[in-house]
Amino acid sequence: MQLIDPILQFHTELQQIRRDIHAHPELSFEEHRTSDVVARKLQEWGIPVIRGLGTTGVVGIIKNGHSQRAIGLRADIDALPMQEFNTFAHASKNEGKMHACGHDGHTAMLLGAAHYLSQHKEFDGTVYVIFQPAEEGGGGAKRMMDDGLFEQCPMEAVFGMHNWPGAAVGSFGVTSGPMMASSNEFDVVVKGKGAHAAQPHKGIDPIMVAVQIAQSWQTIITRNKSPLDTAVLSITQIHAGSATNVIPDEASLIGTVRGFTTSVVDLLENRMRAIAEHTAAAFDASVEFSFKRNYPPLINHARETAFAVDVMRSIVGDERVDAQVEPTMGAEDFAFMLQAKPGCYVFLGNGDGEHRDMGHGLGPCNLHNPSYDFNDDLLPIGATYWVRLAEAYLKNTSP
Ligand code: NI
Repeated sequence: MQLIDPILQFHTELQQIRRDIHAHPELSFEEHRTSDVVARKLQEWGIPVIRGLGTTGVVGIIKNGHSQRAIGLRADIDALPMQEFNTFAHASKNEGKMHACGHDGHTAMLLGAAHYLSQHKEFDGTVYVIFQPAEEGGGGAKRMMDDGLFEQCPMEAVFGMHNWPGAAVGSFGVTSGPMMASSNEFDVVVKGKGAHAAQPHKGIDPIMVAVQIAQSWQTIITRNKSPLDTAVLSITQIHAGSATNVIPDEASLIGTVRGFTTSVVDLLENRMRAIAEHTAAAFDASVEFSFKRNYPPLINHARETAFAVDVMRSIVGDERVDAQVEPTMGAEDFAFMLQAKPGCYVFLGNGDGEHRDMGHGLGPCNLHNPSYDFNDDLLPIGATYWVRLAEAYLKNTSP
């Protein structure tokens, strides 16, 4: 691996930063301490910052030369509302909050790159290092954009990265086109008419109607969308009733819809609504249909992906880069940034969990698992990738 020497020498400090953030996890839009830590470090290293975009977002601005060209590198900084099982020294000190997705590591890797880039300015232009709040469901990327991220920091392209448990340390995975799914949620209330359970003919049973709808919805996946289009419709909650001898007034169906294109999500929403309304009407019931679009599909741009793949290969070698990694039905709000700017999002292998110190909890080292921990061996790899990407993108073209 062709890692950058000064970054390797900075590993201990990056590990301390990472573990400090891990020990003090903060939830979406509440990342005040984390945001302070990031801004303080950047300023210590002489990097000007913009604060407050998306509430707790921080952007560091690293300039060199005269070129107007600019690139954005993005990390997420928020944690999850869950209890950590690990008991090692840097385990969460905040009850019910945990860095179980490795955003502590993402933050540290980008700080490592910022530190190096501020000292070794082998590029011509501007590198914006973007520390984004609220990736975990809050849409912090969108909030930063709504607050003027791309107007205040005009950039040609933007890049993102996520650690990937199960993939070998030092390996990268990426693919051009759709890589992560659009996530959406629905909440459908079937309105019937309550009655005594022994006198069903005096009411309209919403449970029976909800069951019909639930069954019929799955035909959208098998009969309405193209078999070549990928999509998931999962009902994850059904709520109705409170007694064994009462037919309730209402029943609700709640769940998630995922897909890799907006058109397939449009199709699912329209068909779900039609089936719900017409099924309810057939039984003299009615529905309240609510469908919320959360994150769009994450689509990597071809040119920037090819560019990123070249940079990865130059660092870890051809055999450690999977340029056609299998997409995942997980979602990621970096998708909003890729709708506005060309760019590429990549996975960086986090290993199988063998890195965890004594005191890790039982259970696998998977994302969103209470026994998870970011692998500190990734810090110099991720930081090197960011640096080489920025340097190659803003290659000094002046004579
Ligand atoms: Ni994450």
